Amino acid sequence: MSNQSQNEFNESSVTLQTFVLFLVATFSGLLVAVLLLPIFLPNMAFSLSGDAPKAYWYLSRATAFISLSLLWLSMVLGLGITNKMARLWPGMPATFAIHEYVSLLGLAFALFHALIILGDHYINFTLLQLLVPFATLEYRPFWVGIGQIGFYVWLIVVISFYIRPLIGQKSWRLLHYASFGLYLMGIMHGIFSGTDTSMGWAQNYYWYSAGSLIFLAFMRFVGSLINALFPVKKQTPVQRSSQR
Ligand code: HEM
Repeated sequence: MSNQSQNEFNESSVTLQTFVLFLVATFSGLLVAVLLLPIFLPNMAFSLSGDAPKAYWYLSRATAFISLSLLWLSMVLGLGITNKMARLWPGMPATFAIHEYVSLLGLAFALFHALIILGDHYINFTLLQLLVPFATLEYRPFWVGIGQIGFYVWLIVVISFYIRPLIGQKSWRLLHYASFGLYLMGIMHGIFSGTDTSMGWAQNYYWYSAGSLIFLAFMRFVGSLINALFPVKKQTPVQRSSQR
């Protein structure tokens, strides 16, 4: 990437206010769903309450897949940035901005996915159990813990967008590579702790999601290898005109 384009992307495309707004919106949604809806709109919340409310569990499972899909999309866009496909469409600055927005949105969905389980009374997780890795002793603590660690790694990656001038481009890039580990943690967590893993559609989803990312990462690796082995020398306008 040229110095000019590096500077272009040196600042986060999502303002800090938007980042905080996303988190506040997620918490407000949770508050309405888990606490206020059953109090103020008992009829509407009927399906959310009762002895064994299932709606919170469905909401958690649905947002889990949305979150993993947004992480996938953000990584596809990230690989697009680095393998230069995005130069053609929609252009580097737009791809970078969408990449960042999508990652932030995915993180908000992950937070919703984790905390909405508080409304489900099948296992009765406490807030502490949901926030502290490997603490869900009653339900697959190891694989849920991997998801929890993934969530914190994701948070660090998102925060790194805002502190890039502080930590420098090299450390930021290194931190950014943690996204691959994060995706691996997310998908393993989903496969080994999710209820839907036994379903054919979920298995297909995991195969296509991981397969497409591996393919893109491989293409990028091959591209960098070719660039390293056969560097294309850029010609100056004078060299170009002297060849004519
Ligand atoms: C604090 C962090 C997290 C907690 C406490 C948590 C908790 C859970 C639990 C308890 C389940 C099992 C639900 C069930 O199917 O019965 C689950 C499933 C799942 N989680 Fe998480 N998770 C967290 C982070 C994440 C993250 C960061 C992702 C995505 C990158 C994710 C994606 C998934 C997926 C795809 C499933 C499978 C859902 C299904 O099969 O229906 N989770 N999670």
